[in-house]
Amino acid sequence: MIDDMTKEKNYIAAIREIGIRLQKGGDFYADLCNVTAVLKKHLDHVYWIGFYFLKDSRLVLGPFQGTPACVFIETGKGVCASCVREKRVIIVPDVRTFEGHIACDPVSKSEIAIPCFDRNRRLRAVLDLDSDSPDSFDEIDRKNLEKVTQCLNELWV
Ligand code: SME
Repeated sequence: MIDDMTKEKNYIAAIREIGIRLQKGGDFYADLCNVTAVLKKHLDHVYWIGFYFLKDSRLVLGPFQGTPACVFIETGKGVCASCVREKRVIIVPDVRTFEGHIACDPVSKSEIAIPCFDRNRRLRAVLDLDSDSPDSFDEIDRKNLEKVTQCLNELWV
């Protein structure tokens, strides 16, 4: 289990690198690919990270790092769908206890889903992170991952 200080340090390094890469900018989709790569590189407690885009009222897999994942998620069921419905961060300490959890990979033991809004506060995507240990995500993750999604607000096209 990662201690809070290491987790904070990892996020500081990740957010710094994301800031530099987004400043250079270029292609938004490619930038999102790098956002997942940077987070995966720095966050020791994460084994899968990816975006699900909200398209025609279902979620479609976007840039990610990790094992192959479900391509489509209907918005009725699962952690990401709850994030869309409730438009808030969902932290799941134990995926087995989350009603309707979709197990793209049985290795996943805990999960966090963060809503991604554009400049008009329209929900555009979900940033989803999985850990292979239970109880891996907390307020440190929420605070820092919201910072990451806020960096993206202006960039959605
Ligand atoms: N567990 C998610 C599905 C996405 S995967 O974890 C990559 C859910 O219940 O929505």
